[in-house]
Amino acid sequence: MNNKIFQTLLLAWFDDYGRKDLPWQRCTHPYHVWISEIMLQQTQVNTVIPYYLAFMQRFPSLDVLAFASVDDVLPYWSGLGYYARARNLHTAAQIITKQGYFPDTLEALTALPGIGLSTAGAILSIAFNQRQPILDGNVKRVLSRYQGIDGWPGSRCVEKKLWQISADFTPAKRVAEYTQAIMDLGATVCKRSNPICISCPLKATCHAFVTDTVAQYPVAKPKKTLPTKEVFFLMLINRNRQVFLEKRPSKGLWGGLWSLPEFASLETLQSSYLVSALVVQQHVILPTQYHVFSHYRLRYVPVRIYVDMATDNITEQKGYAWWELECVETLGLAAPIKKLLIQLHQGE
Ligand code: ADE
Repeated sequence: MNNKIFQTLLLAWFDDYGRKDLPWQRCTHPYHVWISEIMLQQTQVNTVIPYYLAFMQRFPSLDVLAFASVDDVLPYWSGLGYYARARNLHTAAQIITKQGYFPDTLEALTALPGIGLSTAGAILSIAFNQRQPILDGNVKRVLSRYQGIDGWPGSRCVEKKLWQISADFTPAKRVAEYTQAIMDLGATVCKRSNPICISCPLKATCHAFVTDTVAQYPVAKPKKTLPTKEVFFLMLINRNRQVFLEKRPSKGLWGGLWSLPEFASLETLQSSYLVSALVVQQHVILPTQYHVFSHYRLRYVPVRIYVDMATDNITEQKGYAWWELECVETLGLAAPIKKLLIQLHQGE
């Protein structure tokens, strides 16, 4: 029942608003559909159009592509990105030419390099009129919202559920148009950000729209709980309004950048040579801040210490320097250090 409503509304919308005159829609020969579907993977329609036209002019048939060298093919992909797609296309063309006919089953198509289940579904439905589902990023989003699918679509069980829904919703009749319609709806109306629900033919029966939860679908990838590393940054400031910085080793985190001296604990900071060699005037532990890296969270405590001496022999060591607070913004600094020094400068 649900699937009938979905199909009817979507196809009626396609009749009025769907894209029907794209270059690859003028001829539904499997070769044309295949090339367009590969180009359209991770790439928007408007970007693909000129590439598709130039490619078809140079490689008008499967045989021309198969007998060209891969070096002839790659320039026609230049700027489209994901160049493995072009190499796979060329290899697959050679395999298909040897077979002598264009494959028309899911098994045979997915056995070719560069063709996954969704691309195979698109080729079979658009070029061969077979009732085959697709599930690319756009379709995942449309179905997740329409059915209110909880869970991240990249997880195995949610993806399985979405394939099942896609298969249930795919009609036997007008399957090529349905496939195009659901992709078009995802690309132009049911967009990732700023979806235009008001123009959506499915809004009256869409779970997310009806429950006002569109922004919650598709559910985002769960964030990993990152381990936290704690450090103490020493902010030594002298009477000439200079801050003491050290150059980090060229390898590793913030390699080669100027940074505040870093300590694993407050005790090691306070008892360090840097602090004990100078005459301390004022010593303040500032509020803790956080910075998130891909693999851990940095919890850092800035410790601001005003000292009496302008310079001393510690700066003679290589990789240390007193820098004018006014100049620090011009140095190569990691973002959290820059933020601290700007805060310090503004608070001065
Ligand atoms: N993305 C993948 N295939 C597509 C198609 N045929 N039309 C629009 N976007 C697509």
